[in-house]
Amino acid sequence: MSNNNVYIETYGCQMNLADTEVVLGILKSNGYSVTDDIRNADVVLLNTCSVRDNAEQRIYGRLGNLKRLKENNPGMVLGILGCMAERLRTDLIEEKKIVDLVVGPDEYRRLPEFIDTVYSGEKGIGVKLSKTETYDDIVPFREDGLTAWISVMRGCDKFCTFCVVPFTRGRERSRSTDSIIDEIQVLSQRGFREITLLGQNVNSYNDGINDFADLLAASAKVDRSLRIRFTTSHPQDLSDKLLYTIAENPNLCNYIHLPVQSGSNKILESMNRTYTIEHYLNLIEKARKIIPGVSFSTDIIAGFPTETFEDHLATIDVMQKVKYDGAYMFKYSPREGTKAFKMKDDVSEEDKSKRLSEIIDLQRIISYELNQKLIGTEEIVLVEGPSKKSDKFFAGRTDSNKIVIFPAEEIIASGDYIKVLLNKATSATLFGDYQSTVMKRNEKLPLTA
Ligand code: SAH
Ligand code: SF4
Ligand code: F3S
Repeated sequence: MSNNNVYIETYGCQMNLADTEVVLGILKSNGYSVTDDIRNADVVLLNTCSVRDNAEQRIYGRLGNLKRLKENNPGMVLGILGCMAERLRTDLIEEKKIVDLVVGPDEYRRLPEFIDTVYSGEKGIGVKLSKTETYDDIVPFREDGLTAWISVMRGCDKFCTFCVVPFTRGRERSRSTDSIIDEIQVLSQRGFREITLLGQNVNSYNDGINDFADLLAASAKVDRSLRIRFTTSHPQDLSDKLLYTIAENPNLCNYIHLPVQSGSNKILESMNRTYTIEHYLNLIEKARKIIPGVSFSTDIIAGFPTETFEDHLATIDVMQKVKYDGAYMFKYSPREGTKAFKMKDDVSEEDKSKRLSEIIDLQRIISYELNQKLIGTEEIVLVEGPSKKSDKFFAGRTDSNKIVIFPAEEIIASGDYIKVLLNKATSATLFGDYQSTVMKRNEKLPLTA
């Protein structure tokens, strides 16, 4: 029977990308095959995001398109996975009559069973959250490649007042270090060159034996030619031990995503972020002492309830002080069920937009200036492959996660570590020329310390 081709589209954060690989792992071991052509699919799944209203609107738009596809192919199973499944539950089935399946982030093991329920003529619904599910034993389905994500924990206990994640992903729980290290070992043997460890707040990782610094140190030792990144760090839980661990291990990238959200203590308190801006700036200063050259990125929300122009200026001030290498910047979007939803969304749409564009413009200038300073220096770049715009050029990334474009040369291949002399920069991209090869794709560094 050929009703086993599955197609998935993934929205939202890296956690969802990692979850999609878990879902495909589960489905494949139950006899499904993966297709990237939706027209050949018997099962179409959207792995969804609820973090802001525009994320959900986009997915509703997509469901509108899929309606036509389903009209032409009534046997096709259409399902919603991920955070919207959790947030909207049966509403999705009742409202959007085309949806057959709604399965939340902790019920993916039972997905094959829920699909069978649909084939037997009923709706498949699984939206229970779990205190223990980590999919520890599931082998995620990954194509061969250079970079991979590994979820090291699930859920979040922080309850920032604006955020829907603790409601859609449930309580915080960590995977065992052993299972993570095993997974890294397999990826290293398969020729991967970069791993990103994922969690909503990786700094509170704890598997009963190891904390996050221990996990990072163990991960770094698996293969010294494998770059290790991680995201996201919460400013309250970032320990000195973690900073020293990054400093001591050359293959732990000197790059920390440390969302500040706002520069105003009043707003931070009302967001329940549990740190002050003074604590945050001290942390940045300390990290820069312990890890020379470390770069930072951040998330910023413009227009949280009661944010005044002065509060906004405080955010601008923090940006100027820290000089982030990059930032993800958003307009506040009220999410039902969160604490902030009960606050009056009192910053006008016009002010939100104005503040957000000021923040974006400033970040562009800061990124541009930081990048200009790199001209004339050499960076070690992991070659990712031909650049998007032309195959006469290659693209790669620095340790600090910046994209570098350089002319393709016979001797360069993806997966190589090479030295590039930088000669030009925009706010988003560095440009340079190949200098020398540090390590070819199939070479590994000796496992010292
Ligand atoms: N766990 C991570 C990321 C959570 S979601 C962290 O703590 O940083 C990613 C980002 O989306 C958040 O950092 C925040 O800046 C933004 N975000 C979350 N909820 C939002 C909302 N209701 N409106 C606007 N931005 C939001
Ligand atoms: Fe959301 Fe805060 Fe948890 Fe991040 S730490 S996922 S912003 S509640
Ligand atoms: Fe979105 Fe859920 Fe990630 S809300 S940002 S997909 S945790």
